[in-house]
Amino acid sequence: MKWMGSLEEIKEDIWRNLLAAVDKKNTAFRHPVVATISDGIPVQRTVVLRNIFISNRTLLFHTDRRSLKVRDLEANPHLSWLFYDDRSRVQLHIRSVAQIHDAGSELHENEWNSTEAAEQRMYCVTEPPGTPVEDPMEVWPEKFRKPSLTLDDTSMGKANFRVVSAEVDHMDWLQLHPEGEYRAIFEWKDDRWQGNWVCP
Ligand SMILES: Cc1cc2nc3c(=O)[nH]c(=O)nc-3n(C[C@H](O)[C@H](O)[C@H](O)COP(=O)(O)O)c2cc1C
Repeated sequence: MKWMGSLEEIKEDIWRNLLAAVDKKNTAFRHPVVATISDGIPVQRTVVLRNIFISNRTLLFHTDRRSLKVRDLEANPHLSWLFYDDRSRVQLHIRSVAQIHDAGSELHENEWNSTEAAEQRMYCVTEPPGTPVEDPMEVWPEKFRKPSLTLDDTSMGKANFRVVSAEVDHMDWLQLHPEGEYRAIFEWKDDRWQGNWVCP
């Protein structure tokens, strides 16, 4: 198993792996778990890491404006991310502060335009996520069920689509290595990353 080396190499490896997750579907960091605080209780869910901007330490995912996580982030923008790579046995816990990008913003427009119709379809459900339904098909209008969806079919989803960007300020990296466990913390302070080894 690859041992990551110095703090600097670990930090570079973190960002390289996050970038790889955006570019390729079958990568370990593609599906992180994000946690919000919902009326005082932690709530987690899986998302797709859609984009990252290394220059301003930003991670992005897409979501529905009607979802619980959007309501939670409006009340408390602190967003926790958890990634795990089973191959290298690396766990990465990231703390960030989130912003929600509404229809009309440049980021919203760019992300919507780079999303395939099959994914845009998710934002066309007629009821907010989590609404009780008798039949799971009742919230899918007929035209969204056909396999050959077009971007015209899904345009109504744009109003429900939101981009969540999150500025990272703390990264907690842990590797379970055959020779021992190694853990490092990186904090964004005074405009730079400050890394330290800690006891695992
Ligand atoms: C593999 C996988 C990827 C997912 N990706 C997303 C995503 O990118 N955005 C999203 O809002 N929900 C995504 N979901 C669904 C969420 O996990 C969650 O069930 C849904 O968003 C409702 O969450 P909430 O009610 O806590 O807001 C994904 C689920 C799975 C299993």
